[in-house]
Amino acid sequence: MWTFQLPTKIVFGIGTTASMATMPEIQDRRLVIVTDSTIGQLPPIRNLIDSLKPNAVYDKVRPNPTTANVDEVTELLRKIDAEIIVAIGGGSSLDTAKAASCLAWTNDLSIRSYHSEGKIFQRVGIPVITVPTTAGTGSEVTPIAVLDDEGKNFKSPMASPYFYPVCAVVDPELTISVPLRVTASTALDALSHSIEGYWSKNHQPICDLLAKEAAKTIFVHLPNVYENLDDLASRKALSYAALIAGIAFHLPKNAIIHACSFPLSNRAHLPHGIACAFTMEAAIRMNSPYMNGRMEEFAAYCNFSTIEKMIEEITTLKRRGGLPCTLMEAQIDSSLIDTLIAESFHPLLNNNPKKVTEEDLRQIYKELMVNE
Ligand SMILES: NC(=O)c1ccc[n+]([C@@H]2O[C@H](COP(=O)([O-])OP(=O)(O)OC[C@H]3O[C@@H](n4cnc5c(N)ncnc54)[C@H](O)[C@@H]3O)[C@@H](O)[C@H]2O)c1
Ligand SMILES: [Fe+2]
Repeated sequence: MWTFQLPTKIVFGIGTTASMATMPEIQDRRLVIVTDSTIGQLPPIRNLIDSLKPNAVYDKVRPNPTTANVDEVTELLRKIDAEIIVAIGGGSSLDTAKAASCLAWTNDLSIRSYHSEGKIFQRVGIPVITVPTTAGTGSEVTPIAVLDDEGKNFKSPMASPYFYPVCAVVDPELTISVPLRVTASTALDALSHSIEGYWSKNHQPICDLLAKEAAKTIFVHLPNVYENLDDLASRKALSYAALIAGIAFHLPKNAIIHACSFPLSNRAHLPHGIACAFTMEAAIRMNSPYMNGRMEEFAAYCNFSTIEKMIEEITTLKRRGGLPCTLMEAQIDSSLIDTLIAESFHPLLNNNPKKVTEEDLRQIYKELMVNE
């Protein structure tokens, strides 16, 4: 028994953002743009923002966005009485906009009431159009926002059926300026979504297909982009892979890799994609024997003769992208391991094919100590 649903309209292709100003969802509406200060200054993004003639622009979203970011955007949305939001950026800007869109139409002042204090959104918010500028999170189509409550040292995803964007406009040309290391970490985040959606206990056939296709696409095209950051055809393939990996995990949900990523971001300050890539090989080794041959099938679909060959390629992709492969490279002191393990016991672990014990997590960190 399974269900599949995706309410978000998808517009995909090189140059698709050029005609956004004529979209009926935008025309004659009070529009607020949500972005971050780095990309907000890039000429193609600047031109896009100008073409949309927004009533206001919020450009202070931080990587690993904070609950304070969401509260500030909400205040702006209320002040402008916004009718539509266009979120332009990586997952950080998209997540901030999705959470603020729902908060704006409540009487609450802070997203904290929902993020860590248990309230649940009861109705739709201001419609959001997402424009991803990285190829990674899939946030352009997911009903999820990952927020960092700095005061509580608590980074966690929140999900609501009302977070689905009305439309995702995916223009791979916007990702050309993404530097090598961010290209690597975001692509490996997308790879982690494909793997986690596929091995989640809630996996289902449509998501399985998309997961395998996303992974295969990343294994083919990420090395091309490493060779040439301006390779638009391969950038387009990575945007597509990130999009379908987002669809592949939005229903089954993530598992151990993401559960481990939250303390790795909170405590060791690893950006999200790097945190997900960090435990990927060890997690595959741990889960594969519990998947009734499905991981062998996944590796074969991606043209690897064995799971171990696929794992080797993941390590190569991490190394070539400048991502850490050991605790020392990630500048994580082994004294932090107990905390990382304790804080990895997130509800996402319930989706994992193998029941995860403290010993399993210790084994993962032991593998990451290799050569130290
Ligand atoms: N909502 C979801 O379903 C979901 C899924 C996975 C991750 N996330 C969350 O998304 C966030 C990470 O998003 P991200 O990996 O896209 O990174 P990001 O949005 O934090 O951006 C990373 C950096 O790249 C820069 N950047 C973005 N686009 C650029 C471009 N075109 N050219 C040059 N620089 C550019 C940004 O300015 C920033 O400095 C994390 O908080 C993570 O937890 C959300
Ligand atoms: Fe992720």
